[in-house]
Amino acid sequence: SPSDPDLVARARAAKERLGERVFVLGHHYQRDEVIQFADVTGDSFKLARDAAARPDAEYIVFCGVHFMAESADILTTDDQRVILPDLAAGCSMADMATAEQVAEAWDVLTEAGVAERTVPVSYMNSSADIKAFTGRHGGTICTSSNAERALRWAFGQGEKVLFLPDQHLGRNTAVRDLGLSLEDCVLYNPHKPNGGLTAQQLRDAKMILWRGHCSVHGRFSLESVEDVRARVPGVNVLVHPECRHEVVAAADYVGSTEYIINTLDAAPAGSKWAIGTELNLVRRLANRYAAEGKEIVFLDRTVCFCSTMNRIDLPHLVWTLEALAEGRTVNRITVDPQTEKYAKLALEQMLALP
Ligand code: 13P
Ligand code: SF4
Repeated sequence: SPSDPDLVARARAAKERLGERVFVLGHHYQRDEVIQFADVTGDSFKLARDAAARPDAEYIVFCGVHFMAESADILTTDDQRVILPDLAAGCSMADMATAEQVAEAWDVLTEAGVAERTVPVSYMNSSADIKAFTGRHGGTICTSSNAERALRWAFGQGEKVLFLPDQHLGRNTAVRDLGLSLEDCVLYNPHKPNGGLTAQQLRDAKMILWRGHCSVHGRFSLESVEDVRARVPGVNVLVHPECRHEVVAAADYVGSTEYIINTLDAAPAGSKWAIGTELNLVRRLANRYAAEGKEIVFLDRTVCFCSTMNRIDLPHLVWTLEALAEGRTVNRITVDPQTEKYAKLALEQMLALP
């Protein structure tokens, strides 16, 4: 939808008043009307690094979701204020692993005698509490752009990995990139006693996958891939690793949002692509590359936007920037010092991955 010109002018004016005091980050899944005001755009890894790149900025306005803003708060200085334009912009996947559930799971692993040989690897898409758990137990954070390196590192530290909270990224990376088998992976269900697993299953497993998933990417199916191949002859199927294993196995290319963009950038004119990721990004890429003669379609027309990413819209951004320009701090995201200390260990481990 075209942006309201009045709101565009107000956002521009407020941003100009703030000048260098504000730094606006935009995840690739953000709406066009918001992304136009981002000083940098990126996948969740790039944005975590970029957030720390402007220690002089008083305000970091994070156009993305809550766990990204928390990570930015952890990686920036104590004086910097990280702002999320709509506090309801969460992530259903991150909500699938709570601190209590994960502490309980660790007890289950301890009872089974495997905890001391297990290294937690947590996807960026998790709360600061889960990141702190990860840091406390000598693990690392990963994103979809470094999950393979994170897993290789973790298997150099211990015999098993507890992967939180996205079962699909964990399974896809273990099987596609590390050559593990599906039988090496077990699924820990936090809603069942002992995760629904026996002690023997935990002892035999190499990857203990948390039963979490992305509600958006989880909707692409093998049928979506088969249908688009029938509909668009010669199409290249490119999907995000949050998709289910059978979708990833049937795709031609798999990678993070940044990888998707780079792949399309390098694609020859006349090539055809079906993309399995969030719709705001796919639409933007379809428009951008149409002029270069690259045909880009959405992998499954029945899949929708990420509703929480979409919560950050132009009215929320305008409200935020105008408040900051008037000296009112709104929607600040903070992580308590104890949580931050351990979550930072796990995030810094990710940044130091070989
Ligand atoms: P990336 O930007 O790291 O590919 O992650 C996608 C995502 O789902 C963020 O929520
Ligand atoms: Fe969370 Fe999925 Fe939305 Fe990403 S796309 S923010 S993983 S719900």
